[in-house]
Amino acid sequence: MFKALVVEKDAESGKTSAAVKTLTLDDLPDAEVTVAVEYSTVNYKDGLCIGPGGGLVRSYPHVPGIDFAGTVEASDDARYKPGDKVVLTGWRVGEAHWGGYSQKARVRADWLVPLPEGLDTRAAMAVGTAGFTAMLAVMALEDHGLVPGHGEVLVTGAAGGVGSVATAILAHLGHEVAAVTGRPEQEGYLRGLGASRIVPREELAETVKRPLESENWTGCVDAVGGAMLARVLGQMKYGASVAAVGLAGGAGLPATVIPFLLRGVNLLGIDSVMQPYANRLRAWERIARDLPMDKLEAMITPATLADLPRLGADILKGQVKGRVVVDLNG
Ligand SMILES: NC(=O)c1ccc[n+]([C@@H]2O[C@H](COP(=O)([O-])OP(=O)(O)OC[C@H]3O[C@@H](n4cnc5c(N)ncnc54)[C@H](OP(=O)(O)O)[C@@H]3O)[C@@H](O)[C@H]2O)c1
Repeated sequence: MFKALVVEKDAESGKTSAAVKTLTLDDLPDAEVTVAVEYSTVNYKDGLCIGPGGGLVRSYPHVPGIDFAGTVEASDDARYKPGDKVVLTGWRVGEAHWGGYSQKARVRADWLVPLPEGLDTRAAMAVGTAGFTAMLAVMALEDHGLVPGHGEVLVTGAAGGVGSVATAILAHLGHEVAAVTGRPEQEGYLRGLGASRIVPREELAETVKRPLESENWTGCVDAVGGAMLARVLGQMKYGASVAAVGLAGGAGLPATVIPFLLRGVNLLGIDSVMQPYANRLRAWERIARDLPMDKLEAMITPATLADLPRLGADILKGQVKGRVVVDLNG
Protein backbone atom coordinates (compact mmCIF):
# COMPACT_ATOMS: atom_id res chain seq x y z
CA MET A 1 0.00 0.00 0.00
CA PHE A 2 1.32 3.46 -0.86
CA LYS A 3 0.10 7.00 -1.41
CA ALA A 4 -0.33 8.87 -4.69
CA LEU A 5 -2.05 11.99 -6.00
CA VAL A 6 -4.81 10.67 -8.24
CA VAL A 7 -6.73 12.86 -10.71
CA GLU A 8 -10.20 11.65 -11.63
CA LYS A 9 -12.62 12.95 -14.25
CA ASP A 10 -16.34 13.09 -13.66
CA ALA A 11 -18.03 11.35 -16.60
CA GLU A 12 -21.06 13.68 -16.57
CA SER A 13 -19.58 17.14 -15.96
CA GLY A 14 -16.16 16.39 -17.49
CA LYS A 15 -14.58 18.15 -14.48
CA THR A 16 -11.37 16.80 -12.97
CA SER A 17 -10.49 16.59 -9.27
CA ALA A 18 -7.22 15.64 -7.57
CA ALA A 19 -6.86 13.92 -4.18
CA VAL A 20 -4.29 11.84 -2.28
CA LYS A 21 -5.35 8.16 -2.45
CA THR A 22 -3.98 4.81 -1.30
CA LEU A 23 -2.93 2.44 -4.12
CA THR A 24 -1.29 -0.99 -4.37
CA LEU A 25 1.52 -2.23 -6.65
CA ASP A 26 -1.14 -3.99 -8.77
CA ASP A 27 -2.56 -0.58 -9.69
CA LEU A 28 0.71 0.49 -11.37
CA PRO A 29 1.17 0.12 -15.14
CA ASP A 30 3.28 -2.73 -16.55
CA ALA A 31 6.92 -1.80 -17.21
CA GLU A 32 10.44 -3.04 -16.41
CA VAL A 33 11.50 -0.96 -13.41
CA THR A 34 9.70 -0.22 -10.12
CA VAL A 35 11.03 2.81 -8.28
CA ALA A 36 10.46 3.92 -4.69
CA VAL A 37 9.98 7.62 -5.43
CA GLU A 38 11.59 9.94 -2.88
CA TYR A 39 11.09 13.38 -4.45
CA SER A 40 9.16 15.01 -7.27
CA THR A 41 8.57 18.62 -8.28
CA VAL A 42 6.13 21.06 -9.90
CA ASN A 43 6.51 22.26 -13.50
CA TYR A 44 4.06 24.24 -15.64
CA LYS A 45 2.91 21.02 -17.32
CA ASP A 46 2.24 19.52 -13.88
CA GLY A 47 -0.10 22.42 -13.21
CA LEU A 48 -2.03 21.47 -16.35
CA CYS A 49 -2.10 17.74 -15.49
CA ILE A 50 -3.16 18.26 -11.83
CA GLY A 51 -5.95 20.49 -13.14
CA PRO A 52 -8.00 20.23 -16.32
CA GLY A 53 -5.32 18.32 -18.28
CA GLY A 54 -4.54 20.81 -21.05
CA GLY A 55 -4.97 18.01 -23.61
CA LEU A 56 -1.90 16.24 -22.22
CA VAL A 57 -3.53 13.48 -20.15
CA ARG A 58 -4.59 10.44 -22.15
CA SER A 59 -6.92 8.65 -19.70
CA TYR A 60 -8.30 8.82 -16.14
CA PRO A 61 -7.73 8.00 -13.31
CA HIS A 62 -4.32 9.59 -13.75
CA VAL A 63 -1.23 10.05 -11.57
CA PRO A 64 0.56 13.28 -12.63
CA GLY A 65 4.18 14.26 -11.94
CA ILE A 66 6.43 14.70 -14.99
CA ASP A 67 9.63 14.22 -12.94
CA PHE A 68 10.77 11.98 -10.13
CA ALA A 69 13.90 10.73 -8.41
CA GLY A 70 14.21 7.70 -6.17
CA THR A 71 15.66 4.24 -5.59
CA VAL A 72 15.11 1.19 -7.79
CA GLU A 73 13.08 -1.42 -5.92
CA ALA A 74 12.71 -4.10 -8.62
CA SER A 75 14.00 -4.36 -12.19
CA ASP A 76 13.58 -6.74 -15.14
CA ASP A 77 16.25 -4.79 -17.05
CA ALA A 78 19.98 -5.57 -16.75
CA ARG A 79 20.88 -1.84 -16.63
CA TYR A 80 19.22 -1.32 -13.23
CA LYS A 81 19.27 -3.25 -9.95
CA PRO A 82 17.58 -2.68 -6.57
CA GLY A 83 19.27 0.13 -4.67
CA ASP A 84 20.28 2.16 -7.75
CA LYS A 85 19.49 5.88 -7.52
CA VAL A 86 17.67 7.15 -10.62
CA VAL A 87 16.09 10.27 -12.06
CA LEU A 88 13.35 10.56 -14.68
CA THR A 89 12.23 13.58 -16.69
CA GLY A 90 10.13 13.72 -19.84
CA TRP A 91 9.02 10.87 -22.15
CA ARG A 92 5.43 12.05 -21.45
CA VAL A 93 5.55 10.45 -18.01
CA GLY A 94 3.00 12.23 -15.81
CA GLU A 95 1.04 13.13 -18.98
CA ALA A 96 0.35 10.09 -21.18
CA HIS A 97 1.81 7.71 -18.56
CA TRP A 98 1.47 7.60 -14.76
CA GLY A 99 4.05 9.84 -13.14
CA GLY A 100 5.97 10.78 -10.04
CA TYR A 101 3.30 12.04 -7.61
CA SER A 102 3.31 8.57 -6.08
CA GLN A 103 5.44 6.76 -3.53
CA LYS A 104 5.95 4.01 -6.16
CA ALA A 105 6.28 4.33 -9.93
CA ARG A 106 6.74 1.69 -12.63
CA VAL A 107 8.40 2.85 -15.86
CA ARG A 108 10.46 1.75 -18.85
CA ALA A 109 14.18 1.33 -18.20
CA ASP A 110 14.93 3.45 -21.32
CA TRP A 111 13.36 6.47 -19.62
CA LEU A 112 15.62 6.45 -16.55
CA VAL A 113 19.00 8.10 -16.04
CA PRO A 114 21.36 6.99 -13.24
CA LEU A 115 21.82 9.82 -10.76
CA PRO A 116 25.22 11.41 -11.41
CA GLU A 117 27.90 11.60 -8.70
CA GLY A 118 27.36 14.73 -6.58
CA LEU A 119 23.54 14.87 -6.81
CA ASP A 120 21.14 13.25 -4.35
CA THR A 121 17.46 12.58 -5.15
CA ARG A 122 16.31 15.82 -3.46
CA ALA A 123 18.79 17.97 -5.40
CA ALA A 124 17.82 16.18 -8.62
CA MET A 125 14.20 17.24 -8.10
CA ALA A 126 15.19 20.77 -7.13
CA VAL A 127 16.60 20.73 -10.67
CA GLY A 128 13.75 18.73 -12.30
CA THR A 129 12.60 19.20 -15.88
CA ALA A 130 12.90 22.99 -15.50
CA GLY A 131 16.56 22.88 -14.46
CA PHE A 132 17.43 20.06 -16.85
CA THR A 133 15.96 22.17 -19.67
CA ALA A 134 17.91 25.23 -18.51
CA MET A 135 21.11 23.15 -18.77
CA LEU A 136 20.13 21.93 -22.26
CA ALA A 137 19.65 25.58 -23.25
CA VAL A 138 23.05 26.61 -21.88
CA MET A 139 24.70 23.65 -23.67
CA ALA A 140 23.01 24.62 -26.95
CA LEU A 141 24.24 28.23 -26.59
CA GLU A 142 27.77 26.96 -25.87
CA ASP A 143 27.61 24.60 -28.86
CA HIS A 144 26.84 27.74 -30.92
CA GLY A 145 29.80 29.71 -29.62
CA LEU A 146 28.76 31.26 -26.29
CA VAL A 147 31.80 31.89 -24.09
CA PRO A 148 32.10 34.14 -21.03
CA GLY A 149 33.55 37.61 -21.34
CA HIS A 150 31.75 38.83 -24.46
CA GLY A 151 28.81 40.64 -22.87
CA GLU A 152 25.55 40.06 -21.07
CA VAL A 153 23.42 36.91 -21.42
CA LEU A 154 19.69 37.58 -21.08
CA VAL A 155 17.43 35.20 -19.12
CA THR A 156 13.67 35.78 -19.46
CA GLY A 157 11.09 34.55 -16.91
CA ALA A 158 14.07 34.66 -14.58
CA ALA A 159 12.30 34.12 -11.24
CA GLY A 160 10.57 30.98 -12.58
CA GLY A 161 12.04 27.46 -12.53
CA VAL A 162 13.88 27.43 -15.88
CA GLY A 163 15.00 31.04 -15.43
CA SER A 164 16.31 30.57 -11.87
CA VAL A 165 18.45 27.57 -12.78
CA ALA A 166 19.68 29.18 -16.02
CA THR A 167 20.67 32.32 -14.07
CA ALA A 168 22.61 30.30 -11.48
CA ILE A 169 24.42 28.11 -14.05
CA LEU A 170 25.35 31.00 -16.36
CA ALA A 171 26.63 33.15 -13.48
CA HIS A 172 28.66 30.21 -12.14
CA LEU A 173 30.21 29.74 -15.59
CA GLY A 174 31.41 33.36 -15.49
CA HIS A 175 28.73 35.05 -17.62
CA GLU A 176 27.21 38.43 -16.83
CA VAL A 177 23.50 37.66 -16.48
CA ALA A 178 20.69 40.17 -17.14
CA ALA A 179 17.53 38.73 -15.58
CA VAL A 180 14.09 39.74 -16.93
CA THR A 181 11.33 39.59 -14.33
CA GLY A 182 7.81 40.89 -13.85
CA ARG A 183 8.27 40.56 -10.08
CA PRO A 184 10.51 43.45 -8.90
CA GLU A 185 10.30 42.09 -5.35
CA GLN A 186 12.43 39.14 -6.53
CA GLU A 187 15.46 41.36 -7.27
CA GLY A 188 17.32 40.21 -4.13
CA TYR A 189 16.60 36.56 -4.94
CA LEU A 190 17.83 36.93 -8.53
CA ARG A 191 20.97 38.84 -7.51
CA GLY A 192 21.61 36.06 -4.98
CA LEU A 193 21.55 33.54 -7.84
CA GLY A 194 24.18 35.62 -9.65
CA ALA A 195 22.23 38.07 -11.85
CA SER A 196 24.22 41.27 -12.33
CA ARG A 197 21.31 43.28 -13.79
CA ILE A 198 17.53 43.17 -13.41
CA VAL A 199 15.49 44.07 -16.50
CA PRO A 200 11.83 44.93 -15.72
CA ARG A 201 9.46 42.78 -17.81
CA GLU A 202 7.65 45.82 -19.23
CA GLU A 203 10.88 46.99 -20.94
CA LEU A 204 10.68 43.97 -23.27
CA ALA A 205 6.99 43.11 -23.26
CA GLU A 206 5.87 45.41 -26.09
CA THR A 207 6.34 44.80 -29.78
CA VAL A 208 8.16 47.53 -31.71
CA LYS A 209 7.99 48.36 -35.41
CA ARG A 210 11.79 48.39 -35.83
CA PRO A 211 13.05 44.85 -36.53
CA LEU A 212 16.53 45.75 -35.24
CA GLU A 213 17.46 47.67 -32.09
CA SER A 214 20.86 48.20 -30.49
CA GLU A 215 22.89 45.00 -30.03
CA ASN A 216 22.61 44.19 -26.32
CA TRP A 217 22.84 40.46 -25.65
CA THR A 218 25.53 37.89 -26.37
CA GLY A 219 23.10 35.01 -25.68
CA CYS A 220 19.61 34.42 -24.33
CA VAL A 221 17.71 31.67 -22.51
CA ASP A 222 14.07 32.47 -23.21
CA ALA A 223 11.31 30.90 -21.09
CA VAL A 224 8.66 33.41 -22.21
CA GLY A 225 8.25 33.32 -26.02
CA GLY A 226 5.62 35.58 -27.63
CA ALA A 227 6.23 39.31 -28.06
CA MET A 228 9.21 39.23 -25.69
CA LEU A 229 11.09 36.67 -27.78
CA ALA A 230 10.33 38.66 -30.93
CA ARG A 231 11.70 41.81 -29.30
CA VAL A 232 14.82 40.05 -27.97
CA LEU A 233 15.70 38.68 -31.43
CA GLY A 234 16.12 42.29 -32.63
CA GLN A 235 18.45 43.09 -29.70
CA MET A 236 20.92 40.20 -30.09
CA LYS A 237 24.56 40.89 -30.92
CA TYR A 238 25.88 39.86 -34.33
CA GLY A 239 26.00 36.02 -34.63
CA ALA A 240 24.52 35.46 -31.15
CA SER A 241 21.96 32.76 -30.27
CA VAL A 242 18.66 32.57 -28.42
CA ALA A 243 17.64 29.23 -26.86
CA ALA A 244 13.83 29.12 -27.03
CA VAL A 245 12.62 27.05 -24.09
CA GLY A 246 9.14 28.18 -23.09
CA LEU A 247 5.90 29.98 -23.81
CA ALA A 248 5.00 31.53 -20.45
CA GLY A 249 4.15 34.74 -22.33
CA GLY A 250 2.55 33.16 -25.41
CA ALA A 251 3.10 30.70 -28.24
CA GLY A 252 2.97 33.26 -31.03
CA LEU A 253 6.06 34.88 -32.46
CA PRO A 254 5.31 38.34 -33.91
CA ALA A 255 8.79 38.73 -35.44
CA THR A 256 10.50 39.43 -38.75
CA VAL A 257 13.34 37.40 -40.28
CA ILE A 258 15.56 40.52 -40.38
CA PRO A 259 17.68 39.61 -37.27
CA PHE A 260 18.49 36.26 -38.91
CA LEU A 261 19.42 37.82 -42.25
CA LEU A 262 21.26 40.98 -41.21
CA ARG A 263 22.80 39.91 -37.91
CA GLY A 264 23.19 36.14 -38.32
CA VAL A 265 21.16 35.60 -35.15
CA ASN A 266 20.34 31.94 -34.35
CA LEU A 267 17.08 30.74 -32.82
CA LEU A 268 17.72 27.37 -31.15
CA GLY A 269 14.76 25.15 -30.20
CA ILE A 270 15.08 23.27 -26.90
CA ASP A 271 13.02 20.15 -26.17
CA SER A 272 13.57 18.24 -22.95
CA VAL A 273 10.90 15.56 -23.36
CA MET A 274 12.28 13.36 -26.18
CA GLN A 275 15.96 14.28 -25.64
CA PRO A 276 18.24 11.33 -26.55
CA TYR A 277 19.88 9.39 -23.70
CA ALA A 278 23.48 10.45 -24.41
CA ASN A 279 22.59 14.14 -24.22
CA ARG A 280 20.53 13.57 -21.05
CA LEU A 281 23.56 11.99 -19.39
CA ARG A 282 25.74 14.89 -20.55
CA ALA A 283 23.26 17.45 -19.19
CA TRP A 284 22.90 15.75 -15.77
CA GLU A 285 26.69 15.49 -15.45
CA ARG A 286 27.05 19.19 -16.33
CA ILE A 287 24.35 20.04 -13.75
CA ALA A 288 26.28 18.16 -11.04
CA ARG A 289 29.40 20.12 -12.03
CA ASP A 290 28.16 23.60 -12.94
CA LEU A 291 25.15 24.30 -10.70
CA PRO A 292 26.30 25.46 -7.25
CA MET A 293 24.36 23.54 -4.59
CA ASP A 294 23.99 26.61 -2.30
CA LYS A 295 22.30 28.49 -5.16
CA LEU A 296 20.02 25.50 -5.82
CA GLU A 297 19.10 25.36 -2.12
CA ALA A 298 18.05 29.04 -2.27
CA MET A 299 15.50 28.20 -5.01
CA ILE A 300 13.67 25.46 -3.06
CA THR A 301 10.16 25.65 -1.64
CA PRO A 302 9.41 22.34 0.15
CA ALA A 303 6.03 20.63 -0.36
CA THR A 304 4.13 17.37 0.17
CA LEU A 305 1.54 15.49 -1.93
CA ALA A 306 -1.30 17.33 -0.16
CA ASP A 307 0.07 20.74 -1.32
CA LEU A 308 -0.03 19.82 -5.00
CA PRO A 309 -3.55 20.93 -6.01
CA ARG A 310 -2.77 24.44 -4.71
CA LEU A 311 0.74 24.56 -6.21
CA GLY A 312 -0.55 23.27 -9.56
CA ALA A 313 -2.95 26.24 -9.72
CA ASP A 314 -0.22 28.67 -8.58
CA ILE A 315 2.27 27.69 -11.30
CA LEU A 316 -0.37 28.19 -14.00
CA LYS A 317 -0.72 31.79 -12.71
CA GLY A 318 3.08 32.33 -12.77
CA GLN A 319 3.12 32.62 -8.97
CA VAL A 320 5.67 29.94 -8.10
CA LYS A 321 9.17 31.22 -7.31
CA GLY A 322 12.15 29.03 -8.21
CA ARG A 323 11.71 25.30 -7.66
CA VAL A 324 9.24 23.30 -5.58
CA VAL A 325 10.55 20.02 -4.12
CA VAL A 326 7.83 17.52 -3.24
CA ASP A 327 8.83 15.06 -0.49
CA LEU A 328 6.83 11.88 -1.19
CA ASN A 329 7.41 10.70 2.38
CA GLY A 330 6.71 14.11 3.95
N1 LIG B 1 11.10 23.05 -23.92
C1 LIG B 1 10.96 22.25 -22.90
O1 LIG B 1 11.28 21.05 -22.95
C2 LIG B 1 10.45 22.83 -21.61
C3 LIG B 1 10.82 22.27 -20.39
C4 LIG B 1 10.41 22.90 -19.21
C5 LIG B 1 9.61 24.03 -19.28
N2 LIG B 1 9.24 24.51 -20.49
C6 LIG B 1 8.43 25.72 -20.60
O2 LIG B 1 9.23 26.79 -20.13
C7 LIG B 1 8.42 27.78 -19.53
C8 LIG B 1 8.93 28.08 -18.14
O3 LIG B 1 8.79 26.91 -17.32
P1 LIG B 1 9.01 27.04 -15.76
O4 LIG B 1 8.91 25.67 -15.19
O5 LIG B 1 10.20 27.87 -15.50
O6 LIG B 1 7.68 27.86 -15.35
P2 LIG B 1 7.53 28.95 -14.20
O7 LIG B 1 8.28 28.53 -12.98
O8 LIG B 1 6.08 29.25 -14.08
O9 LIG B 1 8.29 30.23 -14.80
C9 LIG B 1 7.81 30.99 -15.86
C10 LIG B 1 8.19 32.44 -15.59
O10 LIG B 1 7.89 33.22 -16.76
C11 LIG B 1 7.52 34.54 -16.36
N3 LIG B 1 6.18 34.83 -16.90
C12 LIG B 1 5.00 34.25 -16.56
N4 LIG B 1 3.99 34.77 -17.29
C13 LIG B 1 4.54 35.69 -18.10
C14 LIG B 1 4.03 36.59 -19.08
N5 LIG B 1 2.72 36.62 -19.39
N6 LIG B 1 4.90 37.40 -19.73
C15 LIG B 1 6.21 37.39 -19.45
N7 LIG B 1 6.77 36.57 -18.51
C16 LIG B 1 5.94 35.74 -17.86
C17 LIG B 1 7.52 34.55 -14.82
O11 LIG B 1 8.82 34.98 -14.44
P3 LIG B 1 9.01 36.39 -13.68
O12 LIG B 1 8.06 36.38 -12.53
O13 LIG B 1 10.46 36.39 -13.29
O14 LIG B 1 8.67 37.44 -14.70
C18 LIG B 1 7.39 33.08 -14.47
O15 LIG B 1 7.93 32.80 -13.20
C19 LIG B 1 6.99 27.24 -19.57
O16 LIG B 1 6.34 27.77 -20.70
C20 LIG B 1 7.20 25.74 -19.73
O17 LIG B 1 6.10 25.12 -20.34
C21 LIG B 1 9.64 23.94 -21.65
